[in-house]
Formats: sequence, structure tokens, C-alpha cells
Amino acid sequence: MAETVEQWNHNSHYHSALLRTIPANARSALDVGCGEGALTRALAGIVPTVIGIDSDQPSIDEARRQDGALRVEYILGDFLEYPFQPESFDFVVSVATLHHMDASAALNRMRALLRPGGALAILGLAHAGTVRDLPFEIAGLVTHRALSATRGYWEHPSPKVWPPPESYTAMRRLAAELLPGARFRRHALWRYSITWSKPVTR
Ligand SMILES: C[S@@+](CC[C@H](N)C(=O)[O-])C[C@H]1O[C@@H](n2cnc3c(N)ncnc32)[C@H](O)[C@@H]1O
Repeated sequence: MAETVEQWNHNSHYHSALLRTIPANARSALDVGCGEGALTRALAGIVPTVIGIDSDQPSIDEARRQDGALRVEYILGDFLEYPFQPESFDFVVSVATLHHMDASAALNRMRALLRPGGALAILGLAHAGTVRDLPFEIAGLVTHRALSATRGYWEHPSPKVWPPPESYTAMRRLAAELLPGARFRRHALWRYSITWSKPVTR
């Protein structure tokens, strides 16, 4: 996974890889916890109808301000409560947000909002829980030092939760339980990803 954006941080580094998981011919996409909307704006260049939802008013204000053409519908609200139509999105993406919510409830909701054949892409934060996490922690330090030396580091303005409540192991298990067939991967910059395609049932 590698990035192509100018505001570099441990999330934006993976934006281009997330965008590559958009299904062909996707018509509608949802960015859960869109923050100031860097990824949401990129989505709008690919998918005709894009919604970004965030529970933080300043983040939504900033997202609207930066999206001069207002190609995206920005919703101020709680993703777990907002009355979206079930199975109404071809692509649901969420970056650095799952650990702000009850992870089971959020994954179940994301699954319910996807159309059959739609795709889910999550970039998440978790905490190290076992000795097997150690190589990834070291890889994070080395990669961060190497990349931030030339790219700087952009602090996004949206709310943060630290430390993340769930461990990597717990998130891997939860993904396997709630999203059968999901791909769970660890990444160098202290992130994991979950990618999943909703089966088309006949
Ligand atoms: C760490 S920020 C990440 C923002 C953005 N995705 C990015 O990568 O820069 C997490 C965002 O999730 C939002 N958030 C947390 N809980 C939420 C919820 N229940 N519904 C909608 N947004 C939520 C926060 O307001 C915050 O903007």
C-alpha cells in the first residue's frame, strides 16, 4: 500500500490503496467519520454520489469549506444512529474512526448499509497486545522516521481517541466473526485494514 496525497500522515498514506478497492461501476459511497474530508473529496472524483458523515461540527464545517464545488453531501450526525437506507451504498469506507465507536455495532451497521456486491474498506487503529505485535511496532517507528523526514507530518484537525480500546488480535477476530471472508491486514504505520465484499445471495 502506498499514498499519493500531499498532506501526509499515517492515515492519508493509505488513501490511494483504499480508493483502489472501490468496486467497478460503484454509484454511491459513504465515508464514515469523514473528518475534514480529504478522502471524501478524493472519492467524489471517482463515485457519482458520495456522502461523508461525522459527529463533529467543526470537522463537517471544514469539510464543506474545502469542498468548494460541494460535490459531496456532508452530514453532521452519529453513524450508528443516522437513518440511512439499508443496502444503499456500493462502497463504505472508514479511516481512523472505528475505534471511536462500539466496533461490533459499527461493523454490523456498515455491513447492513452495503448493497450485495458492494465493498467495505476500513483503515483502523488498535493497540499492541502480544509479543507478536512487536515487529509491527518497530516497523512503525522505522517507517515513520523515514517517511516523515521528507514529507513532514500533517496533524488532521478532527477529534482523536487514544489509546484505541481494542487490540489488533481482537479486531482480527471481530472481522472474521462479523464479516466472513474479510481480509485483515497489518500495515507498517500502526494501522490495520479490513476489506470485504458483501456476497450476492441468490
Ligand atoms: C481520528 S478522526 C479521522 C477523520 C478522518 N477519517 C481522517 O482520516 O482524517 C475520527 C473521526 O470520527 C468521527 N466520529 C467518531 N465517532 C463517530 C460517530 N459515531 N459517527 C460519526 N463520526 C464519528 C470523529 O468526529 C472524527 O472526526
